[in-house]
Amino acid sequence: MSGHSSYTPSNGFSRWLDNRLPIVRLAHDSFVSYPTPRNLNYFWTFGGILSLMLVAQIVTGIVLVMHYTPESTMAFGSVEHIMRDVNYGWLLRYLHANGASMFFVAVYLHMFRGLYYGSYKAPREVLWILGVIIFLLMMATGFMGYVLPWGQMSFWGAKVITSLFSAIPIVGDSVTTWLWGGYSVDNPTLNRFFSLHFLLPFMIAGVVILHVWALHVVGQNNPSGVEVTDVNKDTVAFTPYATTKDGFAMLCFLIFYSWFVFYVPNFLGHADNYIPANALVTPAHIVPEWYYLPFYAILRAVPSKLGGVIAMFSAIALLAFLPWLDTSKVRSATFRPVYRAFFWILVIVCLGLGYLGSQPPTDGTTFVARIFTSYYFMHFLVILPLLGLFETPLKLPTSIADAILAKTGSAAAMGHAAVAEPNTKG
Ligand code: HEM
Repeated sequence: MSGHSSYTPSNGFSRWLDNRLPIVRLAHDSFVSYPTPRNLNYFWTFGGILSLMLVAQIVTGIVLVMHYTPESTMAFGSVEHIMRDVNYGWLLRYLHANGASMFFVAVYLHMFRGLYYGSYKAPREVLWILGVIIFLLMMATGFMGYVLPWGQMSFWGAKVITSLFSAIPIVGDSVTTWLWGGYSVDNPTLNRFFSLHFLLPFMIAGVVILHVWALHVVGQNNPSGVEVTDVNKDTVAFTPYATTKDGFAMLCFLIFYSWFVFYVPNFLGHADNYIPANALVTPAHIVPEWYYLPFYAILRAVPSKLGGVIAMFSAIALLAFLPWLDTSKVRSATFRPVYRAFFWILVIVCLGLGYLGSQPPTDGTTFVARIFTSYYFMHFLVILPLLGLFETPLKLPTSIADAILAKTGSAAAMGHAAVAEPNTKG
């Protein structure tokens, strides 16, 4: 899919640069003439939205750091100082805090898009695994960022999650002491979390470059799940088609994001985090941020502490093996009616786990969380491997152009469209 380059330097300077560092050629071949399947729907805009959100988080974060103090007696006060005294400090902080939530909204849609259309299947396994690594790094970054305001939920959230490591046999306690930098969550813990929270987004940016590189080597999947057979009929140039669509989607997403920032900036947070951290007062109900809730429910569903920790990490690690767990040759759920039904059950189970993770544990919620946790693992470890062997998929279109024909139902009209709107790539 990388193909030959269609870039022609237009003047002396660009020719000079192109012979020394063909960076404009790289950008042109990747984001202008790059052949894009012509049937992509709006679920393919979330990769661009995620890139935008990563930049937004880094930019707002860098300015926040100019006013924040990573020291346990001053951190809470410095955040209040940002909110009250720094010019537009409230805006920066709300953009950053809500930005984290928006990042996760986009990443979950991006991942479930991949699950629905089978984008993790060969030849996109490495692209997918790089995505799972990004997801893990995002989880770590969000967790450490939430600790920085040093409110009650920051402190107790850090305490609960870091204490999980003490469940590791033999070395557990030493590992926890090492993570804390002492014998409790305290200033050294805040310092190291601050350092890592600063570093990790740049590591994410590095892995995103590999992710997009892998994408450009194998090419994009598409809603039909069949590969490009004829570049002229099946694809359009990335610019202007995908760029315009991505731009429009980004604008809509920014409106959604702004609504949270300007109208309900604390809706996704927790009121207890406006109380300074106090090691002697435990909040009545410790809950993580919404985007961790399904995993938190899995953690609590398992009776043993070590078992819960293993289940929680396995729930994510499992995703890396998905390309081999799903044995079906067909990618898109559009042509897999049985898989499609199981996909929607999985969506409901994940939402259900999220709800259960937000509730104080009772016998009833724990019982349902156990059923949902079992289902989550069964989906990947039992249902997907077997379904590929027993499911009869619908007839696949012979090409992407054919898939569009089937949708519009007019072969003649489409034949015309393909001629009337040729691929504009060079
Ligand atoms: C910072 C986070 C991420 C960024 C910036 C990012 C960026 C992108 C971009 C720009 C694309 C191409 C456009 C699109 O398909 O939407 C893409 C595709 C893809 N991403 Fe991501 N991604 C991120 C996280 C993830 C995660 C967490 C996963 C999965 C665990 C993932 C899996 C994929 C897959 C499988 C594709 C190919 C989709 C296809 O062609 O059908 N990505 N990503």
